[in-house]
Amino acid sequence: MKKVYFGSNLKMYKNIEDTVKYLRELTELTADISREEIELFIIPSYTTLDRATTSVDRNLVRLGAQNMCWEEQGQFTGEISPLMLQEMGLDLVMIGHSERRHVFGETDEEENRKVKCGLEHGFTTLLCIGETAEEKKYDLGPEVLRTQIKIGFDGVDASETGKIWVAYEPVWSIGVNGTPATADYAERMHAEIKKCLIELFGRAGEEIPVLYGGSVNPGNAEELIVQPSVDGLFVGRSAWEADKFNDLIRMAKKKAETARD
Ligand code: 13P
Repeated sequence: MKKVYFGSNLKMYKNIEDTVKYLRELTELTADISREEIELFIIPSYTTLDRATTSVDRNLVRLGAQNMCWEEQGQFTGEISPLMLQEMGLDLVMIGHSERRHVFGETDEEENRKVKCGLEHGFTTLLCIGETAEEKKYDLGPEVLRTQIKIGFDGVDASETGKIWVAYEPVWSIGVNGTPATADYAERMHAEIKKCLIELFGRAGEEIPVLYGGSVNPGNAEELIVQPSVDGLFVGRSAWEADKFNDLIRMAKKKAETARD
C-alpha cells in the first residue's frame, strides 16, 4: 500500500512546553502504527524546535520548520538560515504557506529561491500552493496552481523530486473563517497539480506526494483521503490536540486502506 501522509502545521501556537507535551502524546498514541504505512510530520514554531528535536522519538514523527531564508547567512534580520535548521538536525522545511504569501506578501519568485535553497541543502521541501476565493470565483484554480508550481519549481531538476512534497491549501479553506473544499473540487485540483508536476518532471513527477490542507476535520477527512489524487492530509486546528489527531489519522488511514484494496 502507498504511504499515507499526515501532518500538522502548528502555526504561531504552542510554547516549548506545550509543543513537547503534544509531540510526546502524539508519538505515544500513534506508536503502534507502522511508519511504512504512514508518514507523520509536525511543523512547530522555530523557538520550540531545538527542544522538540531532542525530546521525541524522531523515528515516529518527522519535524520541520515553517519557513526558511534562501541564503546561508547575511544581512537578513529576522530570518532563519538553512544551516541553522540543519544544526538542529532538521531535514524538512515548509515553503510558501498561504499565511506567508497572503499575510506577509511573499511572491512565487521568493518561494522559488527558498525551494531551491531547501533542496540544495538536502531538505525535504514542502511547497504550499492554493488559489484565493476571488480566483476560485472565476474558476482560475488550475491556472493559479500551474503558475505557482511552474515558478515555485523553476530550475529544479527531476532528480530532486524525491525530496519534494506539495500541499494544496486553497486560501479560502484555511483557518477559522475557512470553508473546506469539497472532495470533488479537491480531487479536480489535485489532478491538475499532478498533471503539471508530470509535465515539469516527467515520470519522476508522479512520485511527488500531494497533500490536501484547509479545514480538514473528522467530518471530511475520510472523503478527502479516498480521492485518487490525494496522498495525505495537512491539518491545522483539528490536529492540535494529540488524541483528536490520533483519531483522525486512524479513521482516515482505515478508509484509505479499504478504498485502495
Ligand atoms: P486549518 O486546518 O486550521 O484550516 O489549517 C490548515 C493549514 O493552514 C495547514 O497548513
